[in-house]
Amino acid sequence: MHPTAMTPSEDDPVGLCIAGAISPEVAVSRLLLGHVTGDGIAAMLEQRRSEPPTQRWQALATLVEARRPELERLSAEVVRAGSNHALPATDPVAGAAEIASFFDRAVANSPEASVALYSLGDPAILAAATAEILDWLDACGLLHGDADVLDLGCGIGRLATALAPRAGSVLGMDVSEGMLAEARKRCAPWPHVQLAHTTGQDLDGLAARSLDLVLAVDSFPYIVRLGPAVVARHVAGAARALRPGGALVVLNLSYGREAAADVAEARGWAAAHDLVLDVAGERPFALWDGLAFVLRRGG
Ligand SMILES: C[S@@+](CC[C@H](N)C(=O)[O-])C[C@H]1O[C@@H](n2cnc3c(N)ncnc32)[C@H](O)[C@@H]1O
Repeated sequence: MHPTAMTPSEDDPVGLCIAGAISPEVAVSRLLLGHVTGDGIAAMLEQRRSEPPTQRWQALATLVEARRPELERLSAEVVRAGSNHALPATDPVAGAAEIASFFDRAVANSPEASVALYSLGDPAILAAATAEILDWLDACGLLHGDADVLDLGCGIGRLATALAPRAGSVLGMDVSEGMLAEARKRCAPWPHVQLAHTTGQDLDGLAARSLDLVLAVDSFPYIVRLGPAVVARHVAGAARALRPGGALVVLNLSYGREAAADVAEARGWAAAHDLVLDVAGERPFALWDGLAFVLRRGG
């Protein structure tokens, strides 16, 4: 293979973005998570400039320029928070409390970046990413006007508010009281959106066959951190709560694991709970690199 045709390595977000493998937003968020500052990102970009600059390079440079003050703030916050989201918790109850306080601090710093670092704190970027998720759910046939939906790990309620006009009811659950307070403000116009605190240990409070959609957007990796028993309780609770034809949708199942391992885990859930794995580890979005799983209850 010619060297220029090779895919850049996973630890080269700028190269991956220029090659079209990830969006500029995801590239910048990966650099921030790697503790690169706004100045550092700008310098890296300068080194990769070609003459004339490619369209992808230009898109990255334009984004970095537009979000420059926010990048300095976010990079300082990422370093200060210093949490490794892939590390398993030693104890599930203490682990959930630690995750809740991490998100309490994050939402106070930047509501948009707290739920999606790749938004870089920009409400317009987050809205575009949310719209992509809604369009995809729609294309999968998972949205209908009278559906009862659980938004598991609802954060600031960006999905709950987007789903509200297209669902019969939405229940948002989260471990973080700070997130729930922000979600309450944003969901106030929607009386059929309820918000509830969870200990993060199980879904035992859900009634059997009461839901059409259980949606977990970037929240399952935190459940995975709490260990296999907590994961098993959540999957069993979701499966029990689904009506025939309903679906469990997980967008990102873990952090730091190979996609193949997540696919194998999702296959195991489907087999254990008589669900059909309709989508197994696709990346359906242009803006966000979330790995998608849809497990449907036959009906
Ligand atoms: C990255 S944010 C995503 C929020 C939201 N789903 C979104 O995409 O906008 C992860 C959220 O999951 C919540 N969370 C983490 N562990 C949880 C658990 N065991 N049960 C419920 N929520 C949890 C966090 O508090 C946080 O609000």
